[in-house]
Amino acid sequence: MAKMEVEVNGIRFRNPVLTAAGPNVMDAEHMIGAFKGGVGGIVSKTVSVRPAHDRRPTIRKTVCRGLVNCETWSELSFEQMIEELLKVKESVDVPLIVSIGYSPDDMRKLAPVIEREVQPDAIEFSTHYTGKDIEPLLAVASALRESVELPIWMKISPNTPNIEELAVQASKIVDGFVAINSFGPVLDFDIETFEPVLGSDYGQGWLSGQAILPIALRIVYQIASVQDKPVIGVGGIEKGKDAIKFFMVGASAVQICSAAIRYGHNIYGKVASEIEKWLDEHGYSSIDEIRNLYREGLKKRRVFENVPVMFVDEEKCTGCTLCVRACMHGALYMENKVAKVIPENCIGCGYCQDMCNFDAMYLVDRT
Ligand SMILES: Cc1cc2nc3c(=O)[nH]c(=O)nc-3n(C[C@H](O)[C@H](O)[C@H](O)COP(=O)(O)O)c2cc1C
Repeated sequence: MAKMEVEVNGIRFRNPVLTAAGPNVMDAEHMIGAFKGGVGGIVSKTVSVRPAHDRRPTIRKTVCRGLVNCETWSELSFEQMIEELLKVKESVDVPLIVSIGYSPDDMRKLAPVIEREVQPDAIEFSTHYTGKDIEPLLAVASALRESVELPIWMKISPNTPNIEELAVQASKIVDGFVAINSFGPVLDFDIETFEPVLGSDYGQGWLSGQAILPIALRIVYQIASVQDKPVIGVGGIEKGKDAIKFFMVGASAVQICSAAIRYGHNIYGKVASEIEKWLDEHGYSSIDEIRNLYREGLKKRRVFENVPVMFVDEEKCTGCTLCVRACMHGALYMENKVAKVIPENCIGCGYCQDMCNFDAMYLVDRT
């Protein structure tokens, strides 16, 4: 059986699946629920100096198994959240990370109290409402660094334009990164009533869930490529294989929010056991062994100097016609129940290959 424990900043997690800040961890009951659901570590809902007041509705479904939300931070006061966190500390034996936001002053006010009274394993700070410029983000990180001894994790917003520069600069201050927060602002509404689905100003919100997974993968890859501090991946994880992708682009652990909202607390343990199963089936003995494998994939992939052409392995082709229907370039046709290529029409885009369920298609150099 593959080893599922991971260590981040010296904190040992029984498995690499943590909660991400959100309503799934809004209070002690939910955080304890996550623990019972098999989570490897708990990150709390973000708390700030003032409780949030979010206009309802706040969480709705959207396309691509995504969610849109207009939740800001915790609606509990800081004092109430401290009480909830103390209950969690008493009831669970997995690491606890407290999420806070947003300004340097907020860090100075909140962090020392959390360190002293809750004694969590780390503090995560959200940059979601701190703006896009690097300097204010670094100022928050520095204020937190000066306020506590605990490891500090910077949660990256996907809306930050220069992720690599931010990661390089911030890595001199923080102990780790969490990427990504929800994406946006975005908009969705009901075409029958023309009304927004969310209660925010003009119905805008933040996108999360499966719809943002590729954005998160890109950002985790960028952060892990330019600096050495650990990165925790978050965005759209619903299955073990989603999490495996995050490890391969450089994540040391992962977090889940939207899938826990949709499917409940057991999602954490389910994803953890799917990761373990995948590692076992592929002969890997730990998460460490698959971390950064994507870098190898990048190096070894075939780079075509000229426009390649699709090749159909006729032994494997079942004549299903899916590829023919998918080709926008008129480069495929059926002959004797086998797909054939018209090389002059093929532009080597590769799309038909994904339609083939039998590995019968791949790109080759033109002869
Ligand atoms: C309803 C909702 C509330 C959220 N609240 C917070 C929050 O308080 N602090 C924070 O850092 N991220 C918050 N997030 C972002 C999530 O922690 C996570 O980064 C993002 O949703 C992507 O992960 P997911 O696709 O697994 O949800 C929230 C997300 C949702 C859907």
